[in-house]
Amino acid sequence: MDVRDLDTPALVVDLERLEANIAAMATQCREAAVRLRPHTKTHKIPAIARLQLDAGARGITCAKLGEAEVMADAGVDDILLAFPVLGPAKLERLRRLRERARVIVSLDDLVVAEGLAALGRRSGEPVEVYVEVDTGLHRMGRAPGEDTAELVERVAELAGLRVTGLLSHAGHAYGVRDPAERARLVDAEIEALTETRRRCAERGVTLDELSVGSTPSVSAELSSGAVTEVRPGTYVFNDSTMIDHHVATERQCAAHVLATVVSRPARDRFVIDAGTKALAADDQGHRGWMRVAGRPDLTMTFLNEEHGVGSLDPAGPGLALGDLLWCIPHHVCPVFNLFDRAFFVRDDLVVDVVPIAGRGRSQ
Ligand SMILES: Cc1ncc(COP(=O)(O)O)c(C=O)c1O
Repeated sequence: MDVRDLDTPALVVDLERLEANIAAMATQCREAAVRLRPHTKTHKIPAIARLQLDAGARGITCAKLGEAEVMADAGVDDILLAFPVLGPAKLERLRRLRERARVIVSLDDLVVAEGLAALGRRSGEPVEVYVEVDTGLHRMGRAPGEDTAELVERVAELAGLRVTGLLSHAGHAYGVRDPAERARLVDAEIEALTETRRRCAERGVTLDELSVGSTPSVSAELSSGAVTEVRPGTYVFNDSTMIDHHVATERQCAAHVLATVVSRPARDRFVIDAGTKALAADDQGHRGWMRVAGRPDLTMTFLNEEHGVGSLDPAGPGLALGDLLWCIPHHVCPVFNLFDRAFFVRDDLVVDVVPIAGRGRSQ
């Protein structure tokens, strides 16, 4: 089937670009001698995780237990849960997950550590943990230095746990478009992590692992020579945000929402059949929600649930009802949470229809 014959809106993955993105990141990590543990929240598809592992990734990262379970169902056996596991129901699911896979869990609180330690003692196999450090995103993690070192020391005292590393996520790199400024931000992240590790060592806790990574920061993190593991996720498809950050080009974007022009109510206005139900409401702070591949003259004005409303220059190349637009989402990860399946395409032909098995597994 030709991709242009798909009913829209449809989520389309260009296999050639996907494979190129996977290979490029694997090569970069191999050359830096750093373990690649991609975050699979971006795609939520076991077959793509398998491509990443076959290309050299050593394990994966998930935030949600539900997504980790889907990956373990498909045979992935080395998972970092970069999210605290709290409460008896989740601890029971973690217990079962650990019967099928090696699982490392990140945390930033002693209460979480105590629950994991109890699980480790009951199962006779200590739970491996990373302690998260706040290197500037101000989401999870204690402040670098003594604050984190004190927590690490107390976590390390718990029987049933094995604390092996520090974790940080430089998501604040998304706020910085200038590559030089981003490199300075990463320098500060690495300095915060290495200094924290030094203070942990002073308290008698040796940490071998430094786990970092987001797609805009990963190149600088790899060239720091200091980290042992990176967890980029978005690189697998790239998205409009990565183009804005000069991290990817339009031709390196492997996931599109194919949409149809359904209305041209004014000379300078068009409407497509993809709104927030297809492109996600998360525009990472930018207006626009997406860009149209090959059509820089088209800009989105607003998105409702079903309608994508855009503007165009009436003197430009034109647009007619029924025209197909290849929409590159601003933030690709939530888009993969909105579709039941993705169409895998090679040379404009649909070669596979793949369920997004981790979609909606938000617990
Ligand atoms: C903890 C953690 N690690 C890694 C990533 C991957 O970042 P990116 O999607 O920018 O590659 C994320 C993304 O949100 C994350 O939260």
